Amino acid sequence: MKILVVGGGGREHAIIMKLAESKKVSKLYCAPGNGGISKYAECFSVKATDIDGMLALAKKLEVDLVFVAPDDPLVAGMVDVMQNAGFRTFGPNKAAAIIEGSKVFSKNLMQKYNIPTAKYAVFNQPEKVLDYISNENTYPTVIKADGLALGKGVIIAQNYDEAKAAVAEIMEDKIFGESGSQVVVEEFLTGPEVSVLCFTDGKSIKPMISSMDHKRALDGDQGLNTGGMGTVAPNPYYTDEIANECMETIFLPTIDAMQKEGRPFKGCLYFGLMLTPNGPKVIEYNCRFGDPETQVVLPLLDTDFVDIIEAIEEERLGELTVNWKNENAACVVMASGGYPKKYESGLVISGLDDKGQIESCFVYHAGTKLNDNGEIVNAGGRVLGVTATAESLSKALEIAYKGVESINWKNVHYRHDIGQKALKAFEN
Ligand code: AMP
Ligand code: GLY
Repeated sequence: MKILVVGGGGREHAIIMKLAESKKVSKLYCAPGNGGISKYAECFSVKATDIDGMLALAKKLEVDLVFVAPDDPLVAGMVDVMQNAGFRTFGPNKAAAIIEGSKVFSKNLMQKYNIPTAKYAVFNQPEKVLDYISNENTYPTVIKADGLALGKGVIIAQNYDEAKAAVAEIMEDKIFGESGSQVVVEEFLTGPEVSVLCFTDGKSIKPMISSMDHKRALDGDQGLNTGGMGTVAPNPYYTDEIANECMETIFLPTIDAMQKEGRPFKGCLYFGLMLTPNGPKVIEYNCRFGDPETQVVLPLLDTDFVDIIEAIEEERLGELTVNWKNENAACVVMASGGYPKKYESGLVISGLDDKGQIESCFVYHAGTKLNDNGEIVNAGGRVLGVTATAESLSKALEIAYKGVESINWKNVHYRHDIGQKALKAFEN
């Protein structure tokens, strides 16, 4: 099979590497890809959001499968366009991708089908939001833009003034554009967070190995929210007992709900969960593989990835056994100094070999490109995801951090405490 992967981050690099292990794959393409991916797949400079351009590329390359990885083309309906043109495609269609594309949709879905989530209210007028928040008078309170906002549309306000400022930014200054025309105000939940990515064909659902993201920029969960500074898998808080409970109260009810709404979800459905004192609750749904969760989850997959993709497409996932390695994985993200704010790019990265790799572990490239001299330079906020698998989490972290220390560029930034919370949970 010739496969085109849409996207160009660390997640797509991890998808490409897992697809490359399949006996069924003859050729891999990626658009737009990046400097590291280009060593493993032929890359084309078509933007992930350019639906017409991507369709033209798929036709030119005569691919057998299109794998749409990022949220924006999924929410915009790239899968529908590809399927209408006759391409086998991995990812939910537009009707199903709304589960991530609109928080108002997903909250209403959960309410209608009794899926546990934070208490909430929806508004489209700033005054009404503020009336509600001042009446509730419970802080912190959580304010979310309805639509996609590059993972930054969630504001946790500690008091009324912060809430007021957030509402002004989202609804009046429109810092997230039309995504902020409606907002959801939510009860603040507490507890360990778990990411559970699931394969689903709309009828049955198979959770992958659980993982834990580290969203804040600085050690000790300080600093700004980012796309994710590192991950570990499995997540020790997610016990078998909790997994069973989530299957009964969250996973199955969600795919049934989507089926009943006439929006069957096929692809990877990502559950962002919080294990609250009152049981697991949904923080968010994503209609895709997570980044950097994929970088620790897919290396542990022990079943041919293409077999799973085909089973999902043909709606026979229920018949397939999906196997996982009994190992632990850790990914440490190396970012450009300054991220998630302004940073300098074009800086040459030292320590990588010709393939953009190091000897001891695998380096997933997120924001890299090749400069005119063929050197690998940083070209994004999150630059590399240095990943190791081992028989224990502590060993995986040790290998990954040793790898991180062998790579360098000017102003490089990474967290030193990825996995520490998970290690403590294993000890308890
Ligand atoms: P998101 O961008 O939706 O992944 O949200 C970013 C982060 O905000 C989540 O990972 C949580 O840590 C936090 N968050 C979102 N909703 C809530 C909530 N209702 N209560 C507490 N924290 C939340
Ligand atoms: N790592 C969080 C996400 O992919 O949305």
